[in-house]
Amino acid sequence: MTGAAGFRRPVILGGDGQLAGEFRVLLPDATCLDRRQADLTRPDALRDTLAGLAPDLVLNCAAYNLVDQAEREPEAAFAANALGPGALARACRALGATLVHVSTDMVFGLDAARSTPYSERELPGPVNAYGASKLAGEHLVAAAGTDHLIVRTCGLYGRRGGPTRKTSFVDRILAKARAGETLRVVGDQSCTPSAAADVAAGILELLAAGARGTAHLTNAGQCSWHEFAAAIVALAGVAARVEAIGSADWTGEACRARYTVLHAGVREGLGLPPMAHWHDALARFLAPVPEAAAAA
Ligand SMILES: NC(=O)c1ccc[n+]([C@@H]2O[C@H](COP(=O)([O-])OP(=O)(O)OC[C@H]3O[C@@H](n4cnc5c(N)ncnc54)[C@H](OP(=O)(O)O)[C@@H]3O)[C@@H](O)[C@H]2O)c1
Repeated sequence: MTGAAGFRRPVILGGDGQLAGEFRVLLPDATCLDRRQADLTRPDALRDTLAGLAPDLVLNCAAYNLVDQAEREPEAAFAANALGPGALARACRALGATLVHVSTDMVFGLDAARSTPYSERELPGPVNAYGASKLAGEHLVAAAGTDHLIVRTCGLYGRRGGPTRKTSFVDRILAKARAGETLRVVGDQSCTPSAAADVAAGILELLAAGARGTAHLTNAGQCSWHEFAAAIVALAGVAARVEAIGSADWTGEACRARYTVLHAGVREGLGLPPMAHWHDALARFLAPVPEAAAAA
């Protein structure tokens, strides 16, 4: 899908990130702003910047994404993920702009016995500060009264983005595998890692179909992080040992949910085709790039 679903002046926030990088490809005429140009924690400057651009659509791809660090600095996570998006939504309302706000599967997870995908209608319950900050952001966006679409996605990976783009799980697994390290990856947490390119295209499809409110959007299927890591090294043709560990052996500061698979009920209800399976999306992502395309 290309084109901004009938919107004529789209603005992309979080411009150095991986999802924003994919939107830039799909919407080459959009204005793309990085953190220096549009900081969610500086709402007055952000409002003035947006007023000058008069967007009819704002795609908010900016976020504080440091899940473990958020346990130590929840104020920073809530400033960027909750208060900032709330102020952004109020600015969009004043401008008459539609806001797409990207959220996360990590708003779920409190139900430790869960083993079936979460629908958009279910009550979230996060297990860490990052998830709580993103959930608060969803509520503040919805409460602002602007035309909006909140899209919850999961485990994004991509190559595009600006100079500050952080490494994804795929980057980190490949780097360790190529360095000859044995990979020890959690095998008892399931979700659906998703290609940022597919999610950006899927968001534009949702918008074009008139989706509003909250929608889930990931690649199809589900896997554990261990299964995902094993698929990464296999598809990349790297010989590496990938061992499964349990959540109890995980040393990260933030608690991680055992199960956060999302059911894309809104997408289904609109009659949109299923997203690609996570394994197919990963295979496409890791396929060698033809020389002509790489040079373009
Ligand atoms: N990555 C995932 O696995 C994942 C999973 C589920 C949901 N999501 C959500 O998907 C969205 C896009 O994620 P992504 O993977 O594309 O993230 P990303 O690559 O980390 O990009 C996020 C961008 O936001 C910028 N940013 C951070 N704080 C900001 C602030 N206060 N004001 C303005 N910009 C700020 C960052 O700038 P700097 O580079 O300068 O820090 C970065 O360029 C986010 O809402 C995220 O919560 C991501």
